[in-house]
Amino acid sequence: MPDLLTGFIALLATWQLCFARVVRAQDDTPNNVTLCGVSDFYNSTAVPYSFNNNKWGDDGTGFSCTNVLDQGESFSVTFQWRGPADTVKAFPYMKLHPERLPVQLWNASTLHFSGNWSMLVEGYDNGPEAQAIAYDNTALKANAAIDMFLSDDITNSTGLGSPIEIMIWLWYPPTMLPLGHSESTPQIDTVEVSGTNFSLYHGWNAQGQNVFSWLAHQNMTSADDDFAPLLSYIWKKGLLSGALYLGQIEFGAEVMHAGETTTFEANNYGLKLYREGDKDDPNPKPTSTASMSKPTIMPTGQAGSSTSSSASTTSAAPNASSSNAASASIPALSLRQKLCIVIPLVVSFFSGTLMFMN
Ligand SMILES: *[C@@H]1O[C@H](CO)[C@@H](O)[C@H](O)[C@H]1NC(C)=O
Ligand SMILES: *[C@@H]1O[C@H](CO)[C@@H](O)[C@H](O)[C@H]1NC(C)=O
Ligand SMILES: *[C@@H]1O[C@H](CO)[C@@H](O)[C@H](O)[C@H]1NC(C)=O
Ligand SMILES: *[C@@H]1O[C@H](CO)[C@@H](O)[C@H](O)[C@H]1NC(C)=O
Ligand SMILES: *[C@@H]1O[C@H](CO)[C@@H](O)[C@H](O)[C@H]1NC(C)=O
Ligand SMILES: *[C@@H]1O[C@H](CO)[C@@H](O)[C@H](O)[C@H]1NC(C)=O
Ligand SMILES: *[C@@H]1O[C@H](CO)[C@@H](O)[C@H](O)[C@H]1NC(C)=O
Ligand SMILES: *[C@@H]1O[C@H](CO)[C@@H](O)[C@H](O)[C@H]1NC(C)=O
Repeated sequence: MPDLLTGFIALLATWQLCFARVVRAQDDTPNNVTLCGVSDFYNSTAVPYSFNNNKWGDDGTGFSCTNVLDQGESFSVTFQWRGPADTVKAFPYMKLHPERLPVQLWNASTLHFSGNWSMLVEGYDNGPEAQAIAYDNTALKANAAIDMFLSDDITNSTGLGSPIEIMIWLWYPPTMLPLGHSESTPQIDTVEVSGTNFSLYHGWNAQGQNVFSWLAHQNMTSADDDFAPLLSYIWKKGLLSGALYLGQIEFGAEVMHAGETTTFEANNYGLKLYREGDKDDPNPKPTSTASMSKPTIMPTGQAGSSTSSSASTTSAAPNASSSNAASASIPALSLRQKLCIVIPLVVSFFSGTLMFMN
């Protein structure tokens, strides 16, 4: 009997220890983080993104802080910049973890982006009409954009110094103009994605980077589609080589001016890149199923009709490795959690055996 009692106490003690540790571990995890420094960042393990306040053009005329909520499930940026409106102050962003990067441009099969976002000026009603007046009154110059960096150098494609940038402006007021807006041919370079036309502009920025900007014809405040046709258009038209390395993919708000405190907020997002041949690609391009023995360098397939892409994206079977950020956030059991399941089982097995032996 004392053995049974000892076994029982040991069992209780193990469970208690395990519980205490798991609970304490959760308490220690910062769920909500505020980033205010120039390049303060938070790297999430719950969702496959890092977050960076990135106020690289801070000229002392304002402020910007990024709030990362629930370990990266959503984020918001609160800012005000009252200085000269002709320079970029900040591009606070979320950035895709680099598991599948860098990738050669012609090998980027699907760029799935979903989510919803808003830009709200404080002191005005939140409705669209009042906010449109607010953007004018406060000379808001900011966008919501996907931002990507490329290089012919595989190493510097993933960091500072990558010489080429491709942006997709999903939302912007008319005060915000893309680089090269007067030398480009947007009426020719137009591609429809997700029921919205995007037109291409090309120019160089002050850092000497070669910048391509796709501008949506209508403001978008939500998305759920494959934006890869905007990448393939560029190399298929010969504007860039398809052999370039795409090393970084971000989503955020580029800010040049905000007369009053303004908040950019994003929720429910999923950002994922699929390479040609990736088994989980929800929208594989025809070239990957070609029956040629070896792929030729230049895929010959058409730039995939973007209208059919929504259907195939939403009909993809749910899978732990799908593009959904929420599914990626289900953590595997940690070693401690495994031990906490196994040890009590072993202890109870032995206390049971001891009881029978007595
Ligand atoms: C984190 O922020 C969210 C949204 O504002 C809130 O619901 C939640 O309670 C916060 N969590 C903590 C631990 O403060
Ligand atoms: C964040 O963590 C991932 C691994 O989980 C790593 O690949 C990535 O480089 C990290 N990002 C930053 C900005 O530190
Ligand atoms: C495309 O990427 C996959 C996965 O990294 C790789 O196996 C394949 O060789 C790449 N193909 C090309 C043409 O770069
Ligand atoms: C995104 O959509 C959800 C559900 O409709 C809504 O509750 C949330 O406020 C939206 N967020 C933004 C930033 O628009
Ligand atoms: C990155 O590599 C490209 C191509 O080799 C080069 O032109 C560029 O100067 C490099 N940038 C840096 C910062 O090393
Ligand atoms: C996109 O532009 C083309 C012409 O360039 C036009 O035929 C098409 O209807 C437009 N699509 C939308 C959704 O406006
Ligand atoms: C986006 O919204 C702003 C404010 O309502 C408006 O002024 C602007 O014309 C819109 N831009 C596009 C491309 O629809
Ligand atoms: C689903 O996930 C499993 C395991 O991660 C993987 O082996 C399988 O190929 C995936 N299926 C699809 C359709 O993505």
